[in-house]
This record gives sequence, structure tokens and C-alpha cells, in this order.
Amino acid sequence: MTVEVIILAAGMGKRMHSTLPKVLHPLGGRPMLHHLLDTVHRIRPDRVHIVVGHGKGHVIENIENEYPGDKKESLINWVEQTEQKGTGHAVLQAIPAIDRSSTVLILNGDTPLLEAETIRAVCRPGNTLNLLTANLPDPSGMGRVLRDGDGNIIRIVEHKDASESEKSISETNTNCMSTGAACLADWLPLLDDQNASKEFYLTDIIACAVNEGVPVHGIPAPDILEIQGINSKNDLERAERIYQARLAGKLMSQGVTIMDSSRFDLRGDGQFGSDCIVDVNVVLEGKVVVRDGVRIGPNTVIRHSTIGDGCVIEANSVIDSATVGKKCVIGPFARIRPDTVLGDRVRIGNFVEVKKSRIGDGSKVSHLSYIGDSEIGSGTNIGAGVVTCNYDGTHKHPTTIGNHAFIGSGSQLIAPVIIGDGATIGAGSTITRNVGEDSLALSRVPQRSKEQWKPHNKKGQ
Ligand code: UD1
Ligand code: MG
Repeated sequence: MTVEVIILAAGMGKRMHSTLPKVLHPLGGRPMLHHLLDTVHRIRPDRVHIVVGHGKGHVIENIENEYPGDKKESLINWVEQTEQKGTGHAVLQAIPAIDRSSTVLILNGDTPLLEAETIRAVCRPGNTLNLLTANLPDPSGMGRVLRDGDGNIIRIVEHKDASESEKSISETNTNCMSTGAACLADWLPLLDDQNASKEFYLTDIIACAVNEGVPVHGIPAPDILEIQGINSKNDLERAERIYQARLAGKLMSQGVTIMDSSRFDLRGDGQFGSDCIVDVNVVLEGKVVVRDGVRIGPNTVIRHSTIGDGCVIEANSVIDSATVGKKCVIGPFARIRPDTVLGDRVRIGNFVEVKKSRIGDGSKVSHLSYIGDSEIGSGTNIGAGVVTCNYDGTHKHPTTIGNHAFIGSGSQLIAPVIIGDGATIGAGSTITRNVGEDSLALSRVPQRSKEQWKPHNKKGQ
């Protein structure tokens, strides 16, 4: 059987109240259309026609540049619907490109939670129309499936056109359907726009099939959560929680401890080793690799990073595009910025910001520091409030600190500057020149004290 898929993605998504085309709104950090394409690829179709219209350029550019699928150029055929006259009209635009002997599977671009097994079950060969349906506790907004006294599907009525008794029907249309291309090509020109929306409804082909005696099979969705269509930001939030619950469920089944799956967000690809614990309100973005025995504290954001074995990330930390070695302790309230590489057993404490720096094994930056464009050796201690002054207003300059150095609290290292192995910088120093190995550098202004001193303007003292 040759299977051609049509994805409807031309609608403007008026109910989203957004300039972004609806199918590009993110679910788990990726456009919903990416998720649908992933699922479609799993059933290995021969062709995928994507009908675009509203925001066409944006949608095409996004898929061509950001969707990772192999061979997508040969698989995807872009179809333009210049005016959005309804879902039936959208499918009609794809017909000229479709082989009449194919089985056509139609999907809404705004239904990204469908599973491959479900759409495979709908995609049946032969002269039938197969329709995925779902019994929803709250079917409002959806097309309702009307059946005759024998239980046969006879037509679909859209919510806007439904009578009160039809609105009480809970069986709904998902718009996931398959049929033979030749039938589809015959039925679509028969549609009209005599309805509440003045649109050509795809759903009216059900009645066409019934008129011609083509069997219509209703296939119940295995899980009503899959068929969540996204028409509004409320729907998007609901779909996001369904998606996140799925991801959290998968990770927990692999052994990850997630303290509250409703407060866990993975917007990308998260890989976990064994015995990891994820506390509440953790957001992971992009490719995040978390090795064995890592504990991630609450309210933490980790983006495109690798966290080594046995690390503890304390609460309220942000780690972005960094590589963290084994047994490091980071936070609470730490910020690790892009291009940072931490060795093993590094300690980054509260209110410390590290940017584009390498910090060697066992070194500590425990409190209130800024480390930028720096290379720090191993076993070095950076005291509280140390600042690497890397920016002169025009250029960024590097700071190099050797092994087993000690930088006293409140010091400023004016880059470019090199501090040798074993060097000590006295607290409160402003270091403008290189400091050799095992040297002590101090640049404090000598303290002056005046005994028995009182301010002149304090009367009566
Ligand atoms: C549609 C179905 C409804 C079903 C629901 C399931 C119709 C008439 N109604 O309603 O029975 O219960 O899906 O989620 O089909 N689109 C185009 N061109 C257009 C109009 C829409 O490509 O001219 C695309 C949209 O981008 C969207 C999809 O078709 O991806 C569905 O359109 P939408 O307006 O969301 O239809 P629903 O009101 O959800
Ligand atoms: Mg919809």
C-alpha cells in the first residue's frame, strides 16, 4: 500500500491570538509540527504533503532549517492554500499531487500528541473511510459524530452548526482519517460552504462516503489525551502538561526519581544515568545529559549541558551550555554561563557567576564572585566577592590563575593578568600586574586610624 499523508497547517489559528503560525507554537520546546512529523515518520509514509497558507514562509523555513528528519526534502511536498477557506478546501489543494491509487491519511497540524500506533491503526487500505473518534467528557468546540439507529456513522456536525441535542453527543471527530485517494478526489469538489463558518468542511466527506455506500469505520482513540487539538493557549497548556507527564512517566520508568511530575519540564532531550533525583520546578532545555547519582535541587534550569556523576545542583541555579565534571557542588543561586567547563569536585557557591571559563579539579569559588574568560587550575581557592575584571569597555581579556593559588576575598583581578601556581593574593587587593608562582601580592591602601576622632558637625558630643 502506498501511503500519502496530508497535514493541514494553513490555518491562521485565530484563537491563539498570536502572530506565530499555530503549528509553530512549541510543545516541550519544539514546534508542534515537529512532533507530528516525528510521529508521521514512524509509520514510514511514501509522501507527506503539508498544506501551508497563513505564515507559509515561516513554517517552511522552520521545517527546512530546524526539523532534523533525514531525507525530509524528498518526503515532504509543500502545498499552498492561498486563502483559508476551510479544512476541506485545504485537502483539495493537495489532491493534484497525490497518486490516485494511494491511501491518504489526513491529519490536523494542531494535534501533535497523536501516537504512531494510533495513526497506523487508522491508516487502512481499501475502499473505506476510517475515522479516529474519541468520547470526550467535554466535547465542546469539536465536531460531533452522528450515528444512525444501527450505530453506523452517518455524518459529522461541527459544534457551531450543531443543535442542542447534537451538542450533547460526546463522540467527537479528531480529523485523523484515511481513505482512498480516488474517492477523496471525487468527494472534495462536492463540498459547499453553507454552514455557520462559511467554510468548506473536510468533515462533510463523511456524508459523501455514506451516500456512495463506502463503509465508514469509526476507530476509537486508545487514549483521549492523544487527540487533544490545540486551538487556544488554554489547549496549548493542557497539551504541554500531557506531554510533560508522558516524558516524566518515561523517565521514572527508567529509574529517575522525580519529586513531582506536574512540576517537571523537559523541553528537549534529557538523558539520565542511574539514581538521579529531580526536585520540584526543574526545567531542562535542549540536550541535557545527567550522569549517575546526580541530585538536582528545586527551581533549577539546565540548558544544553552535561552534569557529571555524583554532582549536587542546589536550589535556584541556572546552568547553560556548560560541562560539569564529577562530584561538583553548584549553588544554591549559582549561574553557570555558556562555554564553562568545570573539572571534578569543583565547588561553585551562592551568587557566583561563571562565564566562558575553565575551573580545574577541586577548586572552589564559594561566594558572591564573577569569573569570566578565565582559566583556573586545580586546588585553587577563590575567596568571597572576587571579580575577574574582564572587560575594559571595548574588549574582553583573559585571567589565568594557576594551581593551588589563593585569591583573598574582595579582590579584583584586572585582566589580562596571570596569577602563578601557589600564589596568594591578599584580601581586598586590586591586581593589575602578573603575580609569579608562590608569591604574595597585596595592593591594599595602608589603613590609617585616628584615635579619639569625632565628626566636626556632630553637636553636643
Ligand atoms: C476540526 C474539525 C473538527 C474536529 C477538530 C479536531 C473541521 C471542519 N472540523 O476543527 O470536526 O473535531 O478539528 O481537532 O475540519 N486548516 C487549514 N486550512 C483552513 C483551515 C484549517 O489548513 O482553511 C488547518 C489548521 O491549520 C489546523 C487544521 O486545519 O491545523 C484544523 O483546523 P481548525 O480550525 O483548528 O479546526 P477545528 O476547529 O479544530
Ligand atoms: Mg483545531
